[in-house]
Amino acid sequence: MKNSIRLLVASVLLAGSTVSFADGAALYKTACFACHDVGIAGAPKFADKKLWAPRIATGIDAMVKTVITGKGAMPPNGGTQLTEAQIREVVEYMANAASGDAAPATADVPASEAPATEVVAESTVEVETKTEVVAEPDAKTVVIVTDTVKIVVTGNVDSGKAKAAACVACHGPDGNSIAPNFPNLAGQSESFLFKQLQDFKAGKRKDATMDAMIMPLDVQAMQDIAAFFASQKLKTGQADPGLAESGKAIYMGGIAEIGVPACMACHGPSGSGNPGSGFPQLASQKSIYTEKQLKDFRTAAQNPADAALGRTNDASKMMRNAVKRMSDPEIKAVAQYIQGLQP
Ligand code: HEC
Ligand code: HEC
Ligand code: HEC
Repeated sequence: MKNSIRLLVASVLLAGSTVSFADGAALYKTACFACHDVGIAGAPKFADKKLWAPRIATGIDAMVKTVITGKGAMPPNGGTQLTEAQIREVVEYMANAASGDAAPATADVPASEAPATEVVAESTVEVETKTEVVAEPDAKTVVIVTDTVKIVVTGNVDSGKAKAAACVACHGPDGNSIAPNFPNLAGQSESFLFKQLQDFKAGKRKDATMDAMIMPLDVQAMQDIAAFFASQKLKTGQADPGLAESGKAIYMGGIAEIGVPACMACHGPSGSGNPGSGFPQLASQKSIYTEKQLKDFRTAAQNPADAALGRTNDASKMMRNAVKRMSDPEIKAVAQYIQGLQP
């Protein structure tokens, strides 16, 4: 992919800015790092000069605007509640970290001449993706699993309903589960449900109960069942009022001191998720189930050598990195807050 861009140097853009990079660094750590530290889902990796150069060349204003509107996997405002001025501080901090001493001196390209310098640069939005075409049962259906997790599935709701007969004992006839250790599936995105079924089938996610349930299902059945549960209406839940406040603080703002990102950065302020980026709906999910998942991700993060421990099917370790330092009470509180979220 080629992009025609105007080459400006970072030092020109940053000249005259009065930003305190210490503030920018601290604000970056509330949520932005969750995607930009590793460079997940197409996010330009922090301090990667090559990835940032063409973006920096568009100017700080343009980049701030992109963050505020959101783009691709990046939700509006970068998934935070920061003000525009604060977003600008972070963007300047990020641009500075990615320009460093490699940027030519201001004098090399006078600002007045800069717009005339048009170059064609290789676009840098490419990320390392492992693309695996899982199945293409018919012409209308594309099923692709990549590191950025973009999956399009078009299962049949009616046949999914029939094929889900064995599932409803636990997940409920309408996808609202009948016990707190079984997840609600209603209203969850078809692509996320399908990915989980694929992962159980392939042994990438392990659970004794689900492993047995998934055995007889072929790709078409998994697609249809995912479409069926996705089409169902979620019954909303409630949070324990005693824990909702502390849970909300973590969900909305993370825990900066221990590097826990704001959950809303990926899962959205109301927990409705972002299917195109593989971020599941969390709203109104059973808290007992959510707690177990968070602990499973944490177990896996703390025991990286033992692949059998915990849950490891999160692309780029997004969830393992998010929860690895969370305590049990913090997990409990955020799970309660999630149970009360209305998508
Ligand atoms: C959920 C993941 C995610 C989070 C959280 C996130 N970003 Fe991004 N960011 C992305 C992705 C993906 C892109 C690339 C978008 C594209 O160009 O398609 C991006 C691009 C950018 C860009 C380049 C914009 C441009 O015009 O090229 C800036 C600057 C940026 N992010 C800043 C931030 C800031 C500041 C925050 C926190 C307030 C943040 N991001 C949070 C995923 C994220
Ligand atoms: C005996 C109870 C039981 C039955 C029957 C059952 N499940 Fe499950 N299901 C579970 C449990 C328990 C989990 C959570 C596993 C874990 O802790 O990781 C789960 C998890 C899932 C998930 C992951 C949801 C998420 O949010 O990540 C999907 C999808 C799913 N089941 C689909 C199905 C389908 C499709 C069937 C029928 C073919 C089925 N289940 C039958 C108990 C059941
Ligand atoms: C950088 C993006 C990102 C951040 C930040 C993030 N998550 Fe996630 N989360 C994901 C992705 C991606 C998955 C899906 C993993 C998979 O494919 O199975 C996920 C899955 C989950 C699940 C499992 C859902 C299910 O039904 O299987 C829970 C629960 C969850 N996240 C809670 C949280 C909480 C709580 C926080 C904040 C402490 C958080 N997440 C922060 C990206 C993120």
